[in-house]
Amino acid sequence: MTAVLSVGLLALVLLACLWLVLGPLRAGAPEDPDAAERARLEAERERLYAQLQTLGDEAARPGLERRAALTLRALDALPPVPRSGRRVRPLALGLLAVATLAVGAGALTFIPRWQLAALNPAEALNLQATLSLPTLKARAERTRQNADYLAWGKAAFDSGRYDEAVSAYGNALKLNPRQPEALRRLGILLLTRGERGGQAPSAQDATQAALLIRTAAQLAPQEPESQLLLGFALARFGQDEDALRALERYRTLDPQGRDADELITAIRARQNETDPGLRVYAANCASCHGPSGGGGVGPSLRESVLSRDALRQITLQGKGAMPGFPNLRGAELEALLNLLEGWQP
Ligand code: HEC
Repeated sequence: MTAVLSVGLLALVLLACLWLVLGPLRAGAPEDPDAAERARLEAERERLYAQLQTLGDEAARPGLERRAALTLRALDALPPVPRSGRRVRPLALGLLAVATLAVGAGALTFIPRWQLAALNPAEALNLQATLSLPTLKARAERTRQNADYLAWGKAAFDSGRYDEAVSAYGNALKLNPRQPEALRRLGILLLTRGERGGQAPSAQDATQAALLIRTAAQLAPQEPESQLLLGFALARFGQDEDALRALERYRTLDPQGRDADELITAIRARQNETDPGLRVYAANCASCHGPSGGGGVGPSLRESVLSRDALRQITLQGKGAMPGFPNLRGAELEALLNLLEGWQP
């Protein structure tokens, strides 16, 4: 919509400029204000020349010659004829045609790409999926092949036609139940059906859906989407710790993926409210040891087997590259140590 509007505006501005620039051409050759006088003098000159050529009486010659000289001088004294636009005109029109062609070619080749460039990759994918959906659906219903069901399901899922995605993936799984993408996507669609305006799943169906997602994560633990959807499902069942770990694995597998950010933030906020140790940890330690202790610049604290006293000492005094935190004390410090002990294997 905005693209159409801006192209229209651009065209208007262009037309206005052309109108102004081409004004002189439109007017044609400029007028000669002295045309009448010039014609009169030229006629006079021709007349005097003719008289001089057919002169019978030589005595009249000096008078005639003087008048002819005066006429010539008067002609010379007239301002020169304004240059006619005749020769400039074809050149200007030619250049204009070239410019128009260039703009036209540019519009045809550039604007379509520009419009696509206005879409982010996800929107472009969405658009393509929506466009190809009817064809894929028809093919899957005709051939009843697994690959065609998967292609239909993927296009439907990507373009947000979740009911179609459910039936496509459902059909694919009837043909072969060990397909991670179909399993986890069907699972998440069934699990979130209530939010999309359908009937919320019963507790039993929800458990079933979670099972699909878990199975997918076991079949394809290295696929980012496996971990992402597992994280979503676990968070729904209130298993925040496990959800966070799955979502962090998702981010490790797909460092560019931003789909988990919101949920991670929400879970953290929820945890910080309920666990004071986690609040201290998030503020002081998470930057180096990872948001849930899995490690980063500093080692994993989930594999550490230090005693409570050793943990206390390292926390207060630091170790190697790690700075000490001597201002942690009292209930805060104890809550942090409880958390670290809880993480130990
Ligand atoms: C600036 C980064 C950084 C911060 C912040 C940090 N650590 Fe560390 N931590 C490290 C590094 C690096 C090591 C490894 C030190 C070594 O072994 O030389 C380490 C080691 C540890 C160890 C020992 C682990 C083991 O098994 O040997 C513990 C326990 C620990 N940190 C706890 C904490 C706690 C609790 C906090 C927050 C109060 C914290 N760290 C903040 C970087 C950091």
